Amino acid sequence: MSPQSDSRHGNGHGHAHGHGHGHGHGHSDIDWEVMATHLENNGELQLPILRRTAARLGELLGPAKAVRRILDIGSGPGVMTCVFAETFTDAETVAVDGTLGLLERTLARAERLGLGGRVAVRHAELPEGLVGGDEHGEGGLGTADLVWSSKAVHHLGDQQEALNALAGVLRPGGLLAVAEGGLPMRYLPRDIGIGTPGLQARLDAAQERWFATMRAELPGSTSAVEDWPAMLGRAGLTDVGSFTFLLDLPAPLGETARAFLHAHLTRLRDSMSESLDDDDCTTLDVLLDPEAPEGILRRPDAFLLSATTVCTGVRPAR
Ligand SMILES: C[S@@+](CC[C@H](N)C(=O)[O-])C[C@H]1O[C@@H](n2cnc3c(N)ncnc32)[C@H](O)[C@@H]1O
Repeated sequence: MSPQSDSRHGNGHGHAHGHGHGHGHGHSDIDWEVMATHLENNGELQLPILRRTAARLGELLGPAKAVRRILDIGSGPGVMTCVFAETFTDAETVAVDGTLGLLERTLARAERLGLGGRVAVRHAELPEGLVGGDEHGEGGLGTADLVWSSKAVHHLGDQQEALNALAGVLRPGGLLAVAEGGLPMRYLPRDIGIGTPGLQARLDAAQERWFATMRAELPGSTSAVEDWPAMLGRAGLTDVGSFTFLLDLPAPLGETARAFLHAHLTRLRDSMSESLDDDDCTTLDVLLDPEAPEGILRRPDAFLLSATTVCTGVRPAR
């Protein structure tokens, strides 16, 4: 998921790994469990942005709104789930994901941070798992005052239907916040002294092609104009808007960010080499070489810029 969480928007959560959620054996068949460490590192790097985002969502909910239950849909390793638990101290925060290993990681993280009592997890396959349950989640997900979903809706075939279901679990006056879109992550200058200048733009193009195939292969895949605020409006929400936060880690990067970029580039090299020419594959090999001074682990010019856009909407009180 930038370090956000999805390779398309630089979020670093590349795709193209096996397993997944019964989506077959193509691009949509992603091994999320294998990506656990990468997803958590990504979340750690994003922490300042995640904290600002949680605070902004609190402002949008307003001081009068009691936030008692929060759902993090497609929660990954639970970094944002734990940020919510830290921010909304009266709330029960529930991480919802289809990957058991990531839910275990969420519980371990919550325990480590002293949030164990207030973070719960729920194993659910989406979108089917979104429906049903009483207000506490007995028999299904239940309802919530704040529903958050980051880089997960685009892994579901019908994104509008998914948003409708997410809006449907909101309590009156509750807020849905969806992190999708944003900008492709940037981490290298245009000319890096090896290969043909403009590598990142070509990697973006390869990721877009990969992403289109991934979406086309999802069960029930439905094309939609990805106008997220308009889609939230169609889901019956009001006061729709969006905000974007920038993560700006200047060169020289620290070790965690370099390790994150190394993992990101490794995934691109493994999964997208067919749509890159030989020159770019050779450049990637040099960037991935831990000994090379031009490698991503050692070069002085690597930086990290990532923009995360969050779209929000409110369920009318009546
Ligand atoms: C790109 S990761 C995003 C993780 C986290 N929200 C973040 O922003 O870092 C997508 C997450 O959605 C989950 N996921 C994807 N498709 C799913 C489905 N059909 N049902 C349940 N979970 C799913 C994956 O297990 C993974 O944890």
